[in-house]
Amino acid sequence: MIMVVITGGAGFIGSNLIHFWINATTDAVINVDNLTYAGNIQNLAELIDNPRYTFLRSDIGNVQTIYHILRKYRPTAIINLAAESHVDRSIHDPDTFIQTNVVATLRLLKTVHSHWSALAGSERDEFRFLHVSTDEVYGSLEIDDLPFRETTPYAPNSPYAASKAASDHLVRSYHRTHGLPVLTTNCSNNYGPYQFPEKLIPLVIRRALAGEPLPIYGDGQNIRDWLYVADHCAAIRCVLARGRPGETYNIGAANEKTNLEVVHRICDILDEGKPRRDGKSYREQITFVKDRPGHDRRYGIDAGKIERELGWKPQETFDGGLRTTVRWYLENQEWVANVTSDAYRDWIALHYGERASSA
Ligand code: NAD
Ligand code: DAU
Repeated sequence: MIMVVITGGAGFIGSNLIHFWINATTDAVINVDNLTYAGNIQNLAELIDNPRYTFLRSDIGNVQTIYHILRKYRPTAIINLAAESHVDRSIHDPDTFIQTNVVATLRLLKTVHSHWSALAGSERDEFRFLHVSTDEVYGSLEIDDLPFRETTPYAPNSPYAASKAASDHLVRSYHRTHGLPVLTTNCSNNYGPYQFPEKLIPLVIRRALAGEPLPIYGDGQNIRDWLYVADHCAAIRCVLARGRPGETYNIGAANEKTNLEVVHRICDILDEGKPRRDGKSYREQITFVKDRPGHDRRYGIDAGKIERELGWKPQETFDGGLRTTVRWYLENQEWVANVTSDAYRDWIALHYGERASSA
């Protein structure tokens, strides 16, 4: 049986990817995750008795444990999603980002390299290390710039983006220096089920339903390029199957929207499906707050390479994906309540307390 290791599998994209992988393939999946605040093993509760799914709690930087996992299970691929992923937290606490996204990722690469070096024949030839990265490494676009291509120079602007850029460079170096068969993907903003409600879309859905202000940074005209998470999962599978080692692939669906447009759309969907008791629109809850420092103005992905070379195309429209997402959060309010612990409330109080005044 083909065995795939997915790191960070208890997070947002990771848990969607594991569900996707188990449904779409006959492979066995090993989820390696150390369960930070963003990791929630309950996301995969329905797979607990599935013989094709194994959860192993470990830091990706734990050389001994990771080496043991690789020797024991002999996976054909490692898909690395484990990371600190929230830009705002990286502004408050960059050290954790360097520790996981740079130091622990380097340790993972060293461990994977020593495992791969000892392989022979087809096991060595077919092995892949796929590193999941972000469009944020390319920095910020002006309104009339062409979208990011794989050749766009790196210009990260937040500690998060800088840490991801560093990890991308380390991954590249392990290919160029040691021949490790790596693939890197740079994806735009994802949305969908299981996203931790510190990120814009789930945060707005949760706060709208709770009757709380919907905080929009600055003037709300910053642009993000939105991709439904299931499309990202399909793209990862496609790159793993057909991508050329050493190459990078941008992933996105050409859904550039201002933050205000996104929040308006969420409010409209909720107005239709779960109207406020007072008959007013959820838009009434929108509040402009102090901007994120160094806030990138615009992201946009040119996904031409993966479409042309590997035949991947997104399937979901923004409106369809957003409706599914809003419905998921409405139907899974217990999940939201479970992940919004004391630590979550502390983060919200700290972060939004600081930007309470208008922009
Ligand atoms: P997330 O924060 O929801 O999940 C991260 C997961 O990694 C959590 O389960 C956490 O417990 C785990 N983790 C963190 N540090 C770890 C460590 N040292 N060892 C083992 N596990 C660890 O993140 P996400 O939004 O699902 O993003 C996953 C990956 O995709 C990240 O690498 C991120 O940079 C990248 N990415 C995210 C987006 C997006 O829009 N969310 C877009 C492009 C790329
Ligand atoms: O582009 C890919 C990146 O997308 C990933 O690499 C990151 O892991 C992921 O978190 C995401 O980063 P962003 O910073 O774009 O996502 P976030 O949801 O935090 O913010 C989206 C936009 O909304 C951004 O312009 C900031 C704005 N925003 C965010 C929050 C949390 C607000 O206006 N108000 C808010 O309260």
